[in-house]
Amino acid sequence: MSKAFAPPATLMAQVAQLPSDSAHPTAFEMYFKMPVYSWIDKHPVERKRFHRGLTEMENCLDRGLLADAVLSDLGPTITLVDVGGGRGGLVMQLLKRYPGWKAVIQDTAEVIAETRQFWQDNMPEGLNEGRVTFLAHSFLEPTPLPPVPDDCPYVFFLKNVLHNWPDDAVKMILNVRAITIA
Ligand SMILES: C[S@@+](CC[C@H](N)C(=O)[O-])C[C@H]1O[C@@H](n2cnc3c(N)ncnc32)[C@H](O)[C@@H]1O
Repeated sequence: MSKAFAPPATLMAQVAQLPSDSAHPTAFEMYFKMPVYSWIDKHPVERKRFHRGLTEMENCLDRGLLADAVLSDLGPTITLVDVGGGRGGLVMQLLKRYPGWKAVIQDTAEVIAETRQFWQDNMPEGLNEGRVTFLAHSFLEPTPLPPVPDDCPYVFFLKNVLHNWPDDAVKMILNVRAITIA
């Protein structure tokens, strides 16, 4: 990944002059002529490396959250929707901790294929018991989620997702949630 990011980095000064919104390219888009996640989805080796890196980050950084956050207040039975969830590693740890919780991991089709394998390797019972399902669907579009029982409501979960989108796209991602829940 680092090699791929080096050439676009030379355009940073140029794009820093542009407004930060979806109408204007990032340095990566200007160089590769496509958004960064489209590029990652087209490069399986880089994609695996990227998600392996995120899993390593989870192993280091999310331990505090797991240790300190009081999430039981969310209820004994909820359905987490991990939006742009990648491998869904933190959600996996939460499902292990809260046996009544379920999860939907949403990401692009390319990522979801590998996410399913990650769960098969690390928490196959989550698959076998139907506690985790996968949704290959863009979070920039309305998300088709099936109705869930009142006692197992959706709770949307976004981790490391909003930080690298411009404000108008972030609003779209969050509004899609609102429209979906309504
Ligand atoms: C920085 S990663 C974070 C992954 C995960 N939440 C974590 O913390 O490890 C951003 C994720 O957003 C996903 N993503 C990017 N564009 C997307 C889109 N339009 N729809 C759904 N997921 C998308 C990427 O594939 C990637 O898995």
